[in-house]
This record gives sequence, structure tokens and C-alpha cells, in this order.
Amino acid sequence: MVAIALPRNSRVEPGQRHEPPRPAKRPREFKVYRWSPERGGNPRLDTFVVDLDDCGPMVLDALIKIKSEIDSTLTFRRSCREGICGSCAMNIDGHNTLACTKAIEDVQGPVAVYPLPHMQVVKDLVVDFEHFWAQYESIQPWLKNYTPAPAKERRQSPEERSKLDGLYECILCACCSTSCPSYWWNGDRYLGPAALLQAYRWIADSRDEATAERLDELEDPFKLYRCHTIMNCTNTCPKGLNPAKAIAEIKKLIVERRL
Ligand code: SF4
Ligand code: SF4
Ligand code: FES
Repeated sequence: MVAIALPRNSRVEPGQRHEPPRPAKRPREFKVYRWSPERGGNPRLDTFVVDLDDCGPMVLDALIKIKSEIDSTLTFRRSCREGICGSCAMNIDGHNTLACTKAIEDVQGPVAVYPLPHMQVVKDLVVDFEHFWAQYESIQPWLKNYTPAPAKERRQSPEERSKLDGLYECILCACCSTSCPSYWWNGDRYLGPAALLQAYRWIADSRDEATAERLDELEDPFKLYRCHTIMNCTNTCPKGLNPAKAIAEIKKLIVERRL
């Protein structure tokens, strides 16, 4: 039998317990992943007790409260707190989602908060997005049109515009890509569901004239065909999008153009 050893320093150890500054009427435990490059060593799981009677309803509210009142070193990204910027993506209660739209009440028991899985941790809940952004850039996410620009805007019919529904709403939070087993194992060469959904967003745009070159670029055993339709991506998307369907549409177009 093959013996698989965990990489050094990968085991998450029990951490410190932090009580709230004032006695809590409705205490709730948050178990939060902690690791910092300054401290090094193994990551730990700190427990923070938060009074839900004195906290907003979302997991991000609790994280902000912890940072403001209990431990200012807790590190995480957030900006819009409206499910629009994608920066607060993390793993909560075992699912990749947005902390600002995840209700604390929807979690049973202690609220487990980890960084997005299979990403390099920069500090605590912040992961390195450099490779993810490079993959996004590689699909050339802009309109390519080779005909002279009209005097006014390039127009679409309502039907053409509706083909972008379910695509343009993507906020590039990476919840889907980091829940995809194929991306975990082949993320260096497989583009992953987020970048592929974005690629399809431009292929589906009636104003874009680069469909053939976009498909040429994607027709690759790793970039596209590492998707095995496992559907984790679609199940986890906090915006309710369907990256697996977008990937299937790209594969279909590649087959159709050979017929
Ligand atoms: S498809 Fe959904 S989960 Fe994936 S990056 Fe876009 S919004 Fe996030
Ligand atoms: S459907 Fe494809 S992209 Fe989505 S989780 Fe499965 S393998 Fe990954
Ligand atoms: S803070 Fe912007 S999506 Fe959560």
C-alpha cells in the first residue's frame, strides 16, 4: 500500500481561545485558521467567542468584530460586503463561499473558517491569487473586434444580449476553481472553471469576432479537457452560476466546428 505523508508543517494544530471583551448573551464559537510567515511553523485553529446579540448577521461581520475587538492581527480580504467584489471568498463550514453573504445562522455549531483550499496561504485567510489572475489574463478577457468601429456603440439584439446572462455576473471570487479536484491536481496547466466561464463569456458575445482563435487557444488536453464534469464548481458558486455548463458549451463548439 502506498503511504502518503503530509507535507511538513501542514497539520493544523489547536490554537488559542479568545473570550469576548464583555460577557456574551448569545455566545457563538468561530474556529479560524491562522498562519503567518513571520511566525512560520504549523498553522493553528484559534477559537473566538462572539456575542451574536452584538454582531451583524454575516460571517464577515463576525470576522470584522473579531479583528476590531479581540485580535487585530487576524488577516482577511474584504471590500464591498455586498457579494460584488469577490474578495472575501473563503471556506466556511466546509464550503467555498463569500463571508459577506454567508449568514451565521445558516451554520450549525461552531463556525469553521479556513482559507480557500489548495491555494498558497499568504497569511491567515488571505491566499495568493497571482496564478489565478495570470490564468484569467491568458483568456484575453476583452472584446476583440476587427471591423471598424461604428459611429455609435456596437449594438446587440435583446436575444444576443441574453446569451451573456449567467456569465457576466461572475465576480472572479475563485470559489469554483478552488473547489474543483481537477484544478487542485493540475492547476498549473488546467485553467479551471472561473477562467473557462470567463472565456465562454467572450465566445458567447455576438460583438466578439475572435471565436475561432479563442477556441484554438483552449483546445488543449490540459487547459480545457481536465474538466471531468464533477460539478463541484457549479454546486459552490455563491452567485448561482454554472461554470460546468459554460465549459460544456466550449467543448461542444470545438466538436461542432469539426463537423
Ligand atoms: S463562476 Fe461563481 S464561483 Fe466561479 S469565480 Fe465566478 S462567481 Fe466565483
Ligand atoms: S465540472 Fe469541471 S470545472 Fe467543475 S468542478 Fe468538475 S472538473 Fe472542475
Ligand atoms: S466583501 Fe465583496 S464579495 Fe464579500
